[in-house]
Amino acid sequence: MNIAILTSGGDSQGMNSAIRAITRTAIVKGHKVYGVTKGYQGLMEGLFIPLDLRDVGDILHRGGTFLQSARSLEFKETSGQKRAIQKLKEANIDHLVVIGGDGSYQGALALFEKGISTYCLPGTIDNDIAYTDYTIGFDTTVNLVVSLINNVRDTSTSHERTSIIEVMGRGSGNIALHAGVASGADAIIVPEVPWELEEVCNIILEGFNRGKKHGIIVVAEGAASGEDVATEIEKRTGLEARSTKLGYVQRGGSPSSFDRIFTSRMGDKVVECIEKGISGVAIGIEGNQITYHPIKEVLSKKAQFDYKLYHIAKNLSK
Ligand code: ADP
Ligand code: F6P
Repeated sequence: MNIAILTSGGDSQGMNSAIRAITRTAIVKGHKVYGVTKGYQGLMEGLFIPLDLRDVGDILHRGGTFLQSARSLEFKETSGQKRAIQKLKEANIDHLVVIGGDGSYQGALALFEKGISTYCLPGTIDNDIAYTDYTIGFDTTVNLVVSLINNVRDTSTSHERTSIIEVMGRGSGNIALHAGVASGADAIIVPEVPWELEEVCNIILEGFNRGKKHGIIVVAEGAASGEDVATEIEKRTGLEARSTKLGYVQRGGSPSSFDRIFTSRMGDKVVECIEKGISGVAIGIEGNQITYHPIKEVLSKKAQFDYKLYHIAKNLSK
């Protein structure tokens, strides 16, 4: 069978590992593999490149995606999707594997509903996809953020400041929650839980009164601007506050072993699904098992947020 792979939306660490795993597993099992460069944009333009075993060598440890990624408005339209289907037919592609976030899943579903055999892998640092405990890159990003917060904490202590660290995640607070817990943040501000500036100020003031020499607040970009939170804290408490927006440094770099291992397992699972004729599904990792569910079902369900962990964090920040 002819299998094409594309990466779409925001890139994430571990996408390369997933491409490598799908390519090698499929080739070993006798299939032909093509990479599509630049996501759905490249698909509409027919940018297929044949992939051999060696073409995916030396990428396992690299961040980003060697197939490159894109966001394409044109593909959201039916006319764009029809162009893509035409290109898939001309290239004799039997199955398309899409590695991306929920927007990319929507695109894959649109193709599936128009008769294309599609599969999805959760490629996003945001961890905002249902039916998977982890998305590709989330673990690496959380580790990176924790390491950067360690640095911020050093200088905050020297100057007895409060540091507000703004992290990515779009509408999800998962990066903020996990990095916040792992760095012992005093407060974690996420879109999933209502919050009050007054409460955050009190937590910081009480911390300094108990003898803390710094304050650490992790803010998810979907909940507030770190800069605004810092301004308000200074105004309301009289303490010095500084904001650091981490930005794209948290989306690059070498993927963690965890991200490399589960993407290797997902590559195996997607080829298994293709061979069994199970299509229109998204691969996930649930309770350390590699699973699959219909893309439509995955898109209909809200992504997980660990409220219990959020409450644990509140107790531990004392
Ligand atoms: P992510 O996949 O990381 O969530 P985006 O939301 O930007 O990133 O989606 C990636 C691409 O998927 C978009 O640029 C667009 O081409 C395609 N896409 C997004 N939403 C839809 C949709 N509703 N229907 C079809 N294609 C979509
Ligand atoms: O979805 C991944 C993500 O990194 C979000 O966390 C962030 O809001 C967004 O992509 C940034 O997108 P762009 O690369 O288009 O600036």
